Amino acid sequence: MIQHREPTPIGRVVATELKPATPHQFHFWTANETTIGIGAIVKVAGPRVGDQGPGRIVFGVVTDGFAYSDLATPLHDVVGAEGDPAKAAESPTVRQEIRLWTAAVLRQHPEEPLQPVPLGAVYVASDADVAQALRMDAYVAGAQPTGIPVGLYTAAGLEAPVYLDADFLLGPEAAHLNISGVSGLATKTSAVEFLLASIFQHFPAHKGRIAALCFNVKGPDLCFLDRPGPLDDADRRRYERLGLTPQPFARVRYYAPCKADGVNLNTLRTHPDLVGDVEPLVWGLAEVLDFAEVLLNRDDIDAKADAFIDFLSDRVLNKEFDDGFGGSHRVQSFADLDGLFRAIFDGLELSGRSDMWRTHHIATIRKVRNRLSNISTRCKGLVTDDGPSNDLPWGRFEDRTVYVVDVANVDPLGQDLVFARAVSKLREHLERRDLGVEAVVVFVDELNKYAPGDGPETYVRKMLLDISERGRYLGLVLFGAEQFRSQVHRRVVGNAGTTLFGRMDADELATPGYHVLSPAIKIKLATLPIGELMLRHPHFTQPIFVRFPRPAVLRGRDGVERFPPSADLPFEEAVVRQLVRLDRRIRPNQVKDLIAERRPDDVRRALAAVRRTRPDDALACFRRMLGVRVAPAAAPAREAVPPLNPISEEPY
Ligand SMILES: Nc1ncnc2c1ncn2[C@@H]1O[C@H](COP(=O)(O)OP(=O)(O)OP(=O)(O)O)[C@@H](O)[C@H]1O
Ligand SMILES: [Mg+2]
Repeated sequence: MIQHREPTPIGRVVATELKPATPHQFHFWTANETTIGIGAIVKVAGPRVGDQGPGRIVFGVVTDGFAYSDLATPLHDVVGAEGDPAKAAESPTVRQEIRLWTAAVLRQHPEEPLQPVPLGAVYVASDADVAQALRMDAYVAGAQPTGIPVGLYTAAGLEAPVYLDADFLLGPEAAHLNISGVSGLATKTSAVEFLLASIFQHFPAHKGRIAALCFNVKGPDLCFLDRPGPLDDADRRRYERLGLTPQPFARVRYYAPCKADGVNLNTLRTHPDLVGDVEPLVWGLAEVLDFAEVLLNRDDIDAKADAFIDFLSDRVLNKEFDDGFGGSHRVQSFADLDGLFRAIFDGLELSGRSDMWRTHHIATIRKVRNRLSNISTRCKGLVTDDGPSNDLPWGRFEDRTVYVVDVANVDPLGQDLVFARAVSKLREHLERRDLGVEAVVVFVDELNKYAPGDGPETYVRKMLLDISERGRYLGLVLFGAEQFRSQVHRRVVGNAGTTLFGRMDADELATPGYHVLSPAIKIKLATLPIGELMLRHPHFTQPIFVRFPRPAVLRGRDGVERFPPSADLPFEEAVVRQLVRLDRRIRPNQVKDLIAERRPDDVRRALAAVRRTRPDDALACFRRMLGVRVAPAAAPAREAVPPLNPISEEPY
């Protein structure tokens, strides 16, 4: 219930024929010295109507300000000062001046009938007023509150917490968040880190479990989310005011593909103290065939190649398969598959029969072989031929856990594959309700690169569009960040229910998307200090400015200074390190003796098998695995797949 208090008014609504008060906007004047400014929230109390209690109450946010005096023309001032600016100060009478403000209506009480703002007294909004003005009373209080603290509204000496509604931030009513602003000053990455921490602490129990999947796409940005970062007293006070505990994420799981050598990890979190909890992300043939679309070029609209890839994954993979020329194949790896391809080509050539093999044209087969070899060479380290894969824990996602997938140094084709597979897997499990959590926030930074408004269609962009348009019913929520909102795909930003803006570039503010903002708000956005954001949320009818504290985690840049990444280890050492990670009792020399003179392929395969089985005695298992597949010294190295030119002109 809105209370009628009698504090001192700071201003008064004025309306003239040229500047009338309307149901959505009003003007008011204040003393020349006042605490309010652009973005301040004010309350207008209309006059009492007879004995029917308090009159209409209106909340508004200041969007513009004007100052002027009773001068008819600037010339009068010049004449008064005899043309000398120094004398203007000595003029015997002080001119009357006005501070006139324009405010946009946030909320009216009563809401119906909707009427122009009454010509009443204007007050600075209190804590409770801010809650009412932003309609937060509906979801912050009550039996099942869904408020997520996002920052402090700070104006006129007042600090009031601002909450987002979890139902509108994380679904099902609305979902997704987008943040934009210039590099380095807009605090985009920091704001998302802070908000994730806030969500983990305040996600309402009745909505179940939640996790986050963050793609690290830039340097060391998200590599130290589990390490505490420095905070000052002002930050701590803000955390307290928001009802949050400043602490780094308690549960973070890191995944990174390997480098081309198949043993060193392709991430900046390789300091010896930290690398232990980075899991290698390794996919084999089966995982790659699942995402056949990624294999085919963006301009390949090729149902035949698609059908052939489907045939491979349905009929050939992991099955005993007869090639039709008397050979039998059990395809488990890229090398096995290449053996099958060669058998087919040889068979067709020898028999001289035709260009068709089981309804597939030889050109289609060549094309698919070419693409597969392309992916296994370009994404070496992510895509492996060495046996078992190591994937994210699909079906075993844990509550309030951040899964960081580091793709910062991965080839664009590999990034396509990682995004495609991760997002599709999330969807699949969320649809079946067996992911382990009910909601997942997917954070993708640098949307200007991954979901640009123009440019070629990429798989990453398709995936991001898919989450934005269909994710919210599933609990799949996209948090995206970019420098130039106007250059991100319209449907990706358009579907974001909640939008944040940090310091903006003037050129960007001149683009059509920002026409709804007043010139004063634009100036404020262009000069916004670090740590302050403009916020739009479905419950707020106008944008609101909030301040948020620094995230309580170690910044990527500081992280690499404190934990400098170690240089790539030689093959032997890297193998030792991975095994010691699985079993601390293992001595380096034991491993080195075992792998001396073994082929790296065999060693990697054995390592992958140990990783997958996670035995009690890792060394014994490793020894056994090495024994299984060790080839005699004379074994020929696998023939490299010769790259072929894409045969895109052919109609196959
Ligand atoms: N609430 C805050 N208060 C004060 N400083 C902050 C706050 N949040 C972040 N910072 C500082 O602002 C700087 C920029 O932050 P951040 O890296 O998040 O920006 P960004 O917008 O993601 O930049 P880029 O576009 O380069 O990725 C960092 O040095 C960070 O420590
Ligand atoms: Mg950033």
